Amino acid sequence: MIDMEISIIGHGYVGLVTACVFADFGNKVHVIGRTPEKISRLKSGDPIIYEPGLEEILDRNLKNGNLEFSTNYDSIKDSEIVFIAVGTPSQADGSADLSQVKVVAKEIALALGERFTVISCKSTVPVGTNKMVEKIVTENAPAQAKFAVASCPEFLREGTGVSDTLSPDRVVIGTESKKAAELLLELHKPIGGQRVVCDLSSAEMIKYASNSMLATKISFANLIAEMSEVAGANAPLVLKAVGLDNRVGAKFLDAGIGYGGACFPKDVKALAFIGKDLGVDSSLLDQVEKINHNARERFAERIVKNAKGKVLAIWGLSFKPNTDDIREAPSIDIMKHLLKNGFSLRVYDPQAMGHIRKIFGDQLNYFDNKDDALAGSDNLVVLTEWNEFAAADLEEIKKTLNSPVVFDGRNIFDPEQMGKMGFEYYSIGRKDVK
Ligand code: UGA
Repeated sequence: MIDMEISIIGHGYVGLVTACVFADFGNKVHVIGRTPEKISRLKSGDPIIYEPGLEEILDRNLKNGNLEFSTNYDSIKDSEIVFIAVGTPSQADGSADLSQVKVVAKEIALALGERFTVISCKSTVPVGTNKMVEKIVTENAPAQAKFAVASCPEFLREGTGVSDTLSPDRVVIGTESKKAAELLLELHKPIGGQRVVCDLSSAEMIKYASNSMLATKISFANLIAEMSEVAGANAPLVLKAVGLDNRVGAKFLDAGIGYGGACFPKDVKALAFIGKDLGVDSSLLDQVEKINHNARERFAERIVKNAKGKVLAIWGLSFKPNTDDIREAPSIDIMKHLLKNGFSLRVYDPQAMGHIRKIFGDQLNYFDNKDDALAGSDNLVVLTEWNEFAAADLEEIKKTLNSPVVFDGRNIFDPEQMGKMGFEYYSIGRKDVK
């Protein structure tokens, strides 16, 4: 039985995961993209992105006919809800580039039929954007078109996108239309989490504020880590104790080499820009970004200063585990710094090798597994905390490296154990083991 008919523009992490989950609930979902080659890959069951569990849901809903992919907007006229899930990348000044949102809003307007349609933005967009979408649609839609605009920000994380979409902490629905709110609430009925129904501007702000809050926690953790290294304190322990206060919470206080990905770096910059634009002092966010950048630089410098030998094994390239995404990954800046300083790098990542190869070409030596990357290396550098690295056999690492020196950018090993085993060990916010 088909519940609702919806269209989603965009098939990145947000668009595709949302489409698959809603199709799995029995809705008819049309996904619209602009690149024919990608659309035919999706039609054949290839999700293009790596997201655990997604391929299976895609395959199931292609087979049962709940999910369709197309480059045209024909499905809009029959859709009760249309989600805009296109990219809003950073521009040079930090502001969000809304050109794709504008193009898509016009295309949707031109394709509207006689059915009442909610046009809901899932893309992360500055306050006022949905009003702009409303204006574009009003100017371009046929006279008989009936529509309302809504903002339905997305909170899924890469790597856990499917489960985050099925059971989010909250579903935020911003709209000035009662009917639109009702339809969106109906669509989200099988999904967990609290409901926050609010005005458009608040919904738009909630998304930036949420990501910036999390990024602020990470930068705060990295600031405490830097201080702890100088003061001789144990930052993970300090931050654990801080996080045990319910008012703070334990999550997103892991110090490391900073946040990356397609969201935090872009959204912190965009909110800082929004603040300036509004005439509000948003320098807190500039500092969050600066500390994040420093975390990478400091780690790279520690390697340059302390490495024994010039050949390094690099474990982990993606911006976090369980994804092949390398956008704004700390690994990129760190490896560039190391190459500049004359190091030879033997790299391995379970998923991100292809993307990294496109950036670095033959400047790196690529290996199919962590052990081959290690063999012939002087020291080991860990840049992403994939489980297989944390579970690695330390005796084997020690035997294989020319010199038992480990630089751990994600604190996956225990300093005491590393010391006992005779490693020289550098980690984040903890005393060096020499
Ligand atoms: C983030 C948010 O967590 C999602 O809620 C949001 O929907 C998404 O952005 C988005 O706007 O689309 P994501 O970018 O997938 O999700 O990744 P996170 O799991 O949040 O991690 C971001 C970065 O922070 C990673 O580089 C991670 O290594 C780093 N991190 C995270 C830390 O350095 N320390 C921590 O304690 C936690």
